[in-house]
Amino acid sequence: MKLLIKGGKLVDFENNCFILRDILIDGKFIKKIDRNIRVQEDFKVIDANNLYISPGFIDAHVHLREPGFEHKETIYSGTKACAKGGFTHVFSMPNTKPSPDSIENLNDLLSRINESAVIKVTPVASVTEGIGGEELVDLKKLSKENIIGFSDDGNPVNSIDYVYKTLLNSIKTKKPLITHSEDRSCFKVGAVNRGKVSEYYSVDGIPNEAEFNMIQRDIDILEETGGHLHICHVSSKESIDIIRNAKLRGLNVTCEVTPHHLSLTEDVVMEKGAMAKVNPPLKTRVDVDRIIKGIQEGTIDMIATDHAPHEIESKKLPIDKASYGFSGAETAFSVAYTYLVKPRKINLIELFRLMSYYPSKVFNVEKEGTIKESYFANLTLINLRREYEVKSSEFVSKGKNTPFEGEKLNGKVMMTIYNGEIVYEEEN
Ligand code: DOR
Ligand code: ZN
Repeated sequence: MKLLIKGGKLVDFENNCFILRDILIDGKFIKKIDRNIRVQEDFKVIDANNLYISPGFIDAHVHLREPGFEHKETIYSGTKACAKGGFTHVFSMPNTKPSPDSIENLNDLLSRINESAVIKVTPVASVTEGIGGEELVDLKKLSKENIIGFSDDGNPVNSIDYVYKTLLNSIKTKKPLITHSEDRSCFKVGAVNRGKVSEYYSVDGIPNEAEFNMIQRDIDILEETGGHLHICHVSSKESIDIIRNAKLRGLNVTCEVTPHHLSLTEDVVMEKGAMAKVNPPLKTRVDVDRIIKGIQEGTIDMIATDHAPHEIESKKLPIDKASYGFSGAETAFSVAYTYLVKPRKINLIELFRLMSYYPSKVFNVEKEGTIKESYFANLTLINLRREYEVKSSEFVSKGKNTPFEGEKLNGKVMMTIYNGEIVYEEEN
């Protein structure tokens, strides 16, 4: 398809501003960016007046559930949801059945992606077989394949030896160790944040130590090995201090934060019950404020959704039995915009960086993350004036599990263009 996007405000990261330009797309790439481009009839013209345009968002952390848990989500439904959220490239986490732990299982996943994804999906391979923690995968072999890195997300990597080997492997291969940092010896059952919420429900709580102990351990190993450590969904104030110090010492440690951890506190869990249960758990105001400061000071590298769709029955169980996680792809931008940009904690350019430019740099994704001639025509068009109410019944994702139900959010994705094709368009 040939497209001409007219009159949008494009983000220019280099000059830290928005510029009014037209974008001409022919095939998969951006052909031309200029003022008042004129074309022949065979172009579809898109009126982007009053819309802001970001490079297509890149989500470093989504659970697409296929293979194995197709009742929760499929690669098709999950990528449709991501497209609606403005994402054009997502990294799929390996807590599937089987997990991408061998060439055979990875190839099966890649062919499923090839068949049904509506945007780009790059898998994260598992560190251990079946994310079981016992047998290390063949790092060398898998590193040659089309993967982003290695993670046992959903589970921590307890073995120091495996962390060591995966970090050493990352030096040459540039395939980082991506960690779900959780020291499970800190609690028995878990479920919610330790403190007033665990007391309220009379359940075992997860303390901040569970996260920051493991982060400290992995950073200590990184100091010895070198390589690249990427830490998922950081949620506690201590973790951010530890990561900041490690960065100041010159270590290659990067991290992400979710839209829910930068916006919601543990109080929501007492109000909404298991619908607000997530791992790591929602924490205190002090933790949330430290996260926001971590974004402002540059300790946090990106916003990633941890899109974790679940069937609604599994969220209606008692708090200690219900599934962890939120269906977050479709609300991510609006949540971040409403909680960060509207109250002027960061500006819109920085939010666009956190959702596109920074992930492209951290994970060496080429020709994405910037709006530029000859780069992939991956674009997200946004109307900042739109306010809407979150209705999970309108989610494209199979997962209707959101703690934002009924909340009014600002800023809406109006169109997502992936490789020069419109993969999502807001109807009204
Ligand atoms: O809340 C979560 N849900 N946290 C995780 O780490 C895993 C995820 C899932 O797969 O449901
Ligand atoms: Zn996780």
